Amino acid sequence: MRCQRIAEFRDAVVWRARFDLPADRSSAYGWDGQDFEVAGDLTGDLRLAYVSCNGEEVGDMEREGSERNAMWARLRDQHRRQPFALMLHGGDQVYADEVTHGHDLSDGWPDRVPDAPSPEALAGLRDHLRERFFARYAALYAAPEMVWLAARVPSLMQWDDHDICDGWGSLPQRRANSAVGRTLFAVARESFLIFQHAATADDLPPRFTDRTGAHLGWSIRAPGLRILAPDLRSERQRKRIMGPGGWSMMEAEARLDAPGHTMLLSSVPLLGPRMSLLEALMRVIPRMQKYEDDLRDQWQSRAHRDEWRRMLAMVRDMAQRDGHDVTAISGEIHLATRAVMEIGPGQHLHQLVASGIAHRAPPKGWARFLGALASLGEHPLPGHPIRIQPLPGQKTRYTAERNFLVLERSAGNWAAAWHLEASGPTAALALSN
Ligand SMILES: [Fe+2]
Repeated sequence: MRCQRIAEFRDAVVWRARFDLPADRSSAYGWDGQDFEVAGDLTGDLRLAYVSCNGEEVGDMEREGSERNAMWARLRDQHRRQPFALMLHGGDQVYADEVTHGHDLSDGWPDRVPDAPSPEALAGLRDHLRERFFARYAALYAAPEMVWLAARVPSLMQWDDHDICDGWGSLPQRRANSAVGRTLFAVARESFLIFQHAATADDLPPRFTDRTGAHLGWSIRAPGLRILAPDLRSERQRKRIMGPGGWSMMEAEARLDAPGHTMLLSSVPLLGPRMSLLEALMRVIPRMQKYEDDLRDQWQSRAHRDEWRRMLAMVRDMAQRDGHDVTAISGEIHLATRAVMEIGPGQHLHQLVASGIAHRAPPKGWARFLGALASLGEHPLPGHPIRIQPLPGQKTRYTAERNFLVLERSAGNWAAAWHLEASGPTAALALSN
């Protein structure tokens, strides 16, 4: 085991321990006198857990632990029953929204940003933000339910906006590009690498495609399985979701021969309902402009229509190759749902949405409203209609309960089941075409 200091904070030092485990059988490692078993066999039948949205925007640090982490406890019980080989975290691993509070330069973020703060003031802000991010991650990793799992199941994580701040990338450019905005992003990124990848920017693990870290997209391969996680935040602007780095990663991956199943982690859902009507409505009602920004964060926003089509066409082409299946997996909306895009005769692209593990669900009325909107259907690519559908056993398209997802490969066939806080586990949905 190779131990190394990777970061220092006011009252703490972060150490990383690196070690290898076999990926073709179960094994164990020892730490501090205790043995931890790891179900690391990625060659045959296996189970993956998928979680997202581990927190809330307001007051997350003050929540009562057993209520906050109730779904983590269920996931832990699932692992005890039948272990997971990997745990995938699809975004909003931390809700950093409140880190900007308590400092003169960032108290007004994102509505008011100072024009030209001094270098000393910015250095002070950086320290403030680093300590605040540290406190949040330290609290998350002190939750016994999650820690028990994290010690036994290797985690792979991709970030979304709340790992930085609400709506990062969809904010007006002059705020995102302000000195305060750049400082916030830089500290969030450093924290993301330390606490979600045990890495630093000058020492990225090989799964990251861009060695310079201009974007933090990564991919891993195992027999018959590829997990592909583009970074939808680092290069995002008001009018684009991915930049040149993200696109060149996706194009290179699309060209690769990767027989089997590709799990595409899209931190915001790739398939979703028609948003244009809702956006048009929100533009004319001033009070609703905050929600317009939320919609702009989605692939389905009219601002991203061409880019969305480009991505859908690329994923369709990947899935149409012989022996290649693709499933898109996302969080973000604090509801559970699924969508299907027809990609060819008898062939479907599934979108699974599981969110959140700790974030409480929005009101049932919102779920019903989205369900009504989704009944309109959407067909951004001619000949490839997208339909939003209920989870197995549910009557409505969106289920307003906390949840996580279990992906299972059995005799080469993949299936997914959602675990819903009130309704329990759903029946399995077959994913293989
Ligand atoms: Fe979230």
